[in-house]
Amino acid sequence: MASIEDIGIDLGSSNVIIAERGKGVIFNEPAVLAVNHATRNIISMGQEAYQMTGREPTGITVMRPLQKGTIQDFDLLSLMLNYFVMRVVGRQLFNRPRALMSISATSNEIEKRQLILRMLGAGARRTQLIERPLAAALGANISINEVTGRMVVDIGGATTDIAVISSGEIMARSILDTGGDAFTEALIRYIRLKHNLLIGWRSAEDLKSAIGTVDVQDQNTLTLPTAGRNLVSGLPRQADITSQECAEAAEEPLHALIEGLHSVIEHIPAELANDVFDEGILLTGGGAQMRALREVIEREMQIPVYVAEHPQEAIALGCAKVLERPGEYGRILGDGRRAR
Ligand SMILES: Nc1ncnc2c1ncn2[C@@H]1O[C@H](COP(=O)(O)OP(=O)(O)OP(=O)(O)O)[C@@H](O)[C@H]1O
Ligand SMILES: [Mg+2]
Repeated sequence: MASIEDIGIDLGSSNVIIAERGKGVIFNEPAVLAVNHATRNIISMGQEAYQMTGREPTGITVMRPLQKGTIQDFDLLSLMLNYFVMRVVGRQLFNRPRALMSISATSNEIEKRQLILRMLGAGARRTQLIERPLAAALGANISINEVTGRMVVDIGGATTDIAVISSGEIMARSILDTGGDAFTEALIRYIRLKHNLLIGWRSAEDLKSAIGTVDVQDQNTLTLPTAGRNLVSGLPRQADITSQECAEAAEEPLHALIEGLHSVIEHIPAELANDVFDEGILLTGGGAQMRALREVIEREMQIPVYVAEHPQEAIALGCAKVLERPGEYGRILGDGRRAR
């Protein structure tokens, strides 16, 4: 394996994304493990484990060590991280990269320390942490050191992280527990109630990204046959689900998201609010890819909204950018620990 430059890691609850300094994204896999719960043996991790979701053999469960933005199972998380980092870094004694990692804002100091220490074992020479919104903004090529206020909204799987940044600092912050997954859950609920059909998580995710929209006013109806289990007969059945139905299902989480944005803007100083009205709102995270989300937020809030060029990769790319220009961004980093 060729030697590796320093790496930026976005440790999300749905996906772990790793970018290499000067190269861009080199790893992107679901943050899941398939575990035998009698023996606690790991069967598989990442993409391979995700493929098992909804069709796990008896005794095997696909688990997410990070849920709703908090670490559910520290040992599993650490095993997964070790394995992922090992896959990109390899076992190299002399070429140990530096790592910059962005984690959920709700992680406590003990968890952060533990993660940093375990990264040493995974092959990183030194690991530092960075606040998610700062990395997201940088990865979307927004300059964060200016005094002008910028609003960055990262819509992940479990959470939506809303922040207003000025002069390299987070001036206002709110973390909602409505992320992209809330839209998937709402879709499963809606189809169960309306069609008496229970669809699996992966089918709902496919539906959401293939035809899903969040705009109930969208006239352009798309349809996708979706398989599930009929709740009356118990037998497998297919139903044609429309994009209009996806939009209806999305109403509740969409409302929560927009309320959350309003609330942050209402509580920031007038100067910053004016900046946000002028500069617009930046969307990042996998959830920013939901069809018509940008347009609907813009319509509801009467503020320009734009989506980062690579929304899901923005945080990892931002981390890699900080590693490229430590002089410019060094001061925004959290505490780190060096290998002896
Ligand atoms: N093409 C797409 N269309 C709609 N939604 C998508 C698409 N691709 C991914 N998503 C959604 O994005 C979410 C995952 O985003 P992301 O990878 O940014 O999350 P994460 O960083 O792992 O989570 P968190 O930040 O909450 O810890 C999921 O809810 C997924 O359904
Ligand atoms: Mg994220």
